[in-house]
Amino acid sequence: MTSSPAPRELPADPSAASPLHTRRAALRQGAAALAGLGLSATIAPAASAEEAVLDDKPGRLKGKVAVVTGAARGIGRAIAVAFAREGADVMGIDIAGSASSITAYPAATMDELEETGKLVKGHGRRFIAVKADIRDLDALKKAAAQVTEKFSRLDIIVANAGIQGFKPLLEMEDKHWHDIIDVNLTGAANTLRAFAPLLVEGKSGGRIILTSSTQGRHGSKNASAYAASKWGIYGLMKSAALELGEHKITVNALVPGLIDTAMTRNATRWTEAMKEAGKQPSKQPPSEEEVIQAQLPHMPLKVPWLKPEDLAPAAVFLASDEAAMVSGSSYDVTAGDTAHFI
Ligand SMILES: NC(=O)c1ccc[n+]([C@@H]2O[C@H](COP(=O)([O-])OP(=O)(O)OC[C@H]3O[C@@H](n4cnc5c(N)ncnc54)[C@H](O)[C@@H]3O)[C@@H](O)[C@H]2O)c1
Repeated sequence: MTSSPAPRELPADPSAASPLHTRRAALRQGAAALAGLGLSATIAPAASAEEAVLDDKPGRLKGKVAVVTGAARGIGRAIAVAFAREGADVMGIDIAGSASSITAYPAATMDELEETGKLVKGHGRRFIAVKADIRDLDALKKAAAQVTEKFSRLDIIVANAGIQGFKPLLEMEDKHWHDIIDVNLTGAANTLRAFAPLLVEGKSGGRIILTSSTQGRHGSKNASAYAASKWGIYGLMKSAALELGEHKITVNALVPGLIDTAMTRNATRWTEAMKEAGKQPSKQPPSEEEVIQAQLPHMPLKVPWLKPEDLAPAAVFLASDEAAMVSGSSYDVTAGDTAHFI
């Protein structure tokens, strides 16, 4: 087992480039964390399987066009880039600025959205960057018109953009509740309302993927608005699957576990993760090491969290022709955390 650098303290800007944003670094980190617990692991082959799948079978989305919201960074970027790698052109939509003052992490930037564009283009695919708030249905409809004008077709919609905040129900202000529900649930519905008509008009079927969360599969202490928004994604997804099936459009939810993105790599989320694991941080902000030690015992696959890229194979599958008979369903990528709930 290779040695690894010690876990880092929280960066001032969690969205800043991090050595953890590479798969190898993630593997080293996971191995080191396990070694610290006195556990051995064979996580490298399992983790590298994603690369093997994507490398060995490029072109599963050849000639297709996808719209991905929340594309500036994190899970949205990983999905956009994986789609490009599989042959799809991408419109990446992001607010690229602050969506709400209730979040405890830095906002994404236009530079980050442009970086996603560079990565997509690096796979030889076209990319259109759109700065828009998914709460703004008119802005999304304008983006849909741009898809028709520039790409002449649409095949895949990924309603992924979202925000997270923590607040006990009894202390919650209106703004907290409304911002989370408006972005995560109404924004996802807006995305479908603006873009699904293009799938219907195209008469070639289509794929819709909505990003939910494990917090949309069980109760979540101090995160009722977020959990409600992500449970709401299920109602939206299943209803859309019923309505759009006759057009050969599939609609499914992607359920990420704890993913190492800006939404997660911050003191508030780390503290809540530790509390969920029955631990209290010894200091604020908690050190990465103590968050890892709190996470590992209850994570079946013995990684503290996943990388955004770990979601990509599931997203590619749900977007592909191979998933033509999968609809109204969900696909969990949680490093086994799903084993704790139904
Ligand atoms: N990180 C996790 O552990 C985790 C776990 C489960 C589900 N999720 C969900 O995955 C999705 C992506 O999260 P992430 O971890 O990549 O977070 P992130 O903060 O890194 O990325 C979210 C992106 O969405 C954009 N966005 C936010 N509000 C927007 C709005 N109103 N209009 C347009 N764009 C907006 C942000 O600017 C950002 O680029 C979210 O829906 C989140 O709830 C994340």
